[in-house]
Amino acid sequence: MRFPPSWLDELRARADIVQIIGQYVQLKKNGRKHWGLCPFHGEKTASFSVDQEQQLYYCFGCKAGGSVIQFVMDYERLEFQDAVKHLADQLHMPLPQMEDDPDYQRRRTQRDRLLEANKEAARFFHQTLFTPAGSNALDYLKRRGLTDSVIRKFGLGAAPNGWDTLTKHMQEKGYTVEELKLVGLTVIKEAEPATETTPAKPRRAFDMFRNRAIFPIIDQYGNVLAFGGRALGDVQPKYLNTSDTPVFNKRLGVYAANLLRKERHLPRVVLVEGYMDVVSLTQFGVSGVCATLGTALTPEQAKLLKRFAPAVYLAYDGDSAGQHAILRGLDILEAEGVPARVLDFPDGLDPDEFIRRDGKEAFDGLPALTPESYRMRRLRTEHDLSTQEGRTEYAKACAAILRKLDPVDRENHLQELMVHTGFTRDVLLEQIGISAGQPAAPQTALQAPARLNPRRNSPAASDEARDEELLISIISTGRMPDDLAKEDDFHDPLLRSLYIELLGGASPASLVEMQQDEAVRARVSKLLLSPPGDDQDQLIRMARECLDRNRLKRTQAQINEIMRSLASLSSSEKAQALIRAKELTDYMKELKSAKQ
Ligand code: UTP
Ligand code: MN
Repeated sequence: MRFPPSWLDELRARADIVQIIGQYVQLKKNGRKHWGLCPFHGEKTASFSVDQEQQLYYCFGCKAGGSVIQFVMDYERLEFQDAVKHLADQLHMPLPQMEDDPDYQRRRTQRDRLLEANKEAARFFHQTLFTPAGSNALDYLKRRGLTDSVIRKFGLGAAPNGWDTLTKHMQEKGYTVEELKLVGLTVIKEAEPATETTPAKPRRAFDMFRNRAIFPIIDQYGNVLAFGGRALGDVQPKYLNTSDTPVFNKRLGVYAANLLRKERHLPRVVLVEGYMDVVSLTQFGVSGVCATLGTALTPEQAKLLKRFAPAVYLAYDGDSAGQHAILRGLDILEAEGVPARVLDFPDGLDPDEFIRRDGKEAFDGLPALTPESYRMRRLRTEHDLSTQEGRTEYAKACAAILRKLDPVDRENHLQELMVHTGFTRDVLLEQIGISAGQPAAPQTALQAPARLNPRRNSPAASDEARDEELLISIISTGRMPDDLAKEDDFHDPLLRSLYIELLGGASPASLVEMQQDEAVRARVSKLLLSPPGDDQDQLIRMARECLDRNRLKRTQAQINEIMRSLASLSSSEKAQALIRAKELTDYMKELKSAKQ
């Protein structure tokens, strides 16, 4: 972010969030916020809120949230710099000096050049595939059953066997070895001086990808970001991938995003683990297939997939690593509010092997398991259902899963659970925590992240966390006395850092923008929405209550801790500890009397 902070503050101040978002979403004022249908996920009732006072938006359905700049970035799919320019343009604000910032210009043109270099390399690899230098790779791809047409569709290529064929070609096209190194196409071996036994060696540049089949990684805008290179035999590593470069971050994109973008009205995206799985399923006529790039699914990728289709089907390998990755993938998708299903492949096969063995119809016939079905299926392999004990444990574990479902969905699974465990419906319902006929707790995306946070499982900790959050929300109005709270009152590191920034005068919108991580940004947006109430005295009172409650609880916990440890202390340590306990008790008395 190279814009001067003061200029950005001015932009945020001039860009009234309600007015800007109002151009995209029909908003209606209700209470202290404006409400509308969330533009980031399909919905029929308004859960998208815009908070004029704090200049933030937050969707209670899909948990998208942020400042006005974030909104423009997400809605218009722009990068930060471009979103800011877009806003400045609308507000007729002249851009600050940064346009002349040579560093910015340099990075911008560097990015363009590196992308051009990648595109040229992709062209070279693809053309080479159909020349003698690429015949090994072409034979390999043909042996794996790929047709010419799918090879062209994915722009697959061949890296020849020589040391520096590509590097030479790229130099002829005007790229320097430094640029080629930066983008991960060339490896530089520095010069070595002569030793007694070896002669001097000059600096050498050679190709990163040699004698491999090449899968170019292309983003939804058609930029070639990176490459995956498949060994043609048993060479390690099996796949060599471009590491992160100035134009590539493997946690952000997916393989085949360029093709996804072109497919309209996809009912779902099929997410697989490997390049080969994508190419192969596509060849067999499966639509909307893409893959993560050798990492577990990230929240950023989940968000990206959500833009392409309303649901994601996880189609990972049938081996144990793949099965494990599914559970993590489901958690990520759930936390991002993306509906998910699981395709479970038999016999430890991967999607490519399965569709080759059993065909497209068998693939289409695979049941799309709900996350709950899949989790229950996994649990069945962990418990011995032939014993009463195993059935009991299994029933309990499943009850915990079914608790979150709404009645109709739960009903389907309940039948299955009765059959597998032999427990009656009433017993199972009771275990789930609802008596027959009673409405279920609503299944909400909102609850999902809470479950990912183990601390939330302890009611005491969650009360304290809630009080800390409310405090931050109140303090963010900027209308509280500075000495209201202390740094120590915040045990949550994020809240503590927000507190420090707020004390230093940062605006809520700027705090939200500072958060790089999308999930954290959502949490901060939600947290900094206007606190309940306008009345300053009332807010101060509320804040004091939060503070007192937490201070009391925490002091009491410290005292308890000291008392528990007494037995194991030496007598001098014991005396020290008792003095400390006495101080804490006095402090508690003080707190209590101040309260009355
Ligand atoms: P797999 O080992 O499952 O390979 O890795 P695959 O997709 O079945 O490939 P084929 O069929 O043997 O050709 C899945 C993915 O993990 C990453 C790649 O993205 C690969 O597609 N991977 C795997 C690597 O990055 N490096 C490796 O050495 C292996
Ligand atoms: Mn495979």
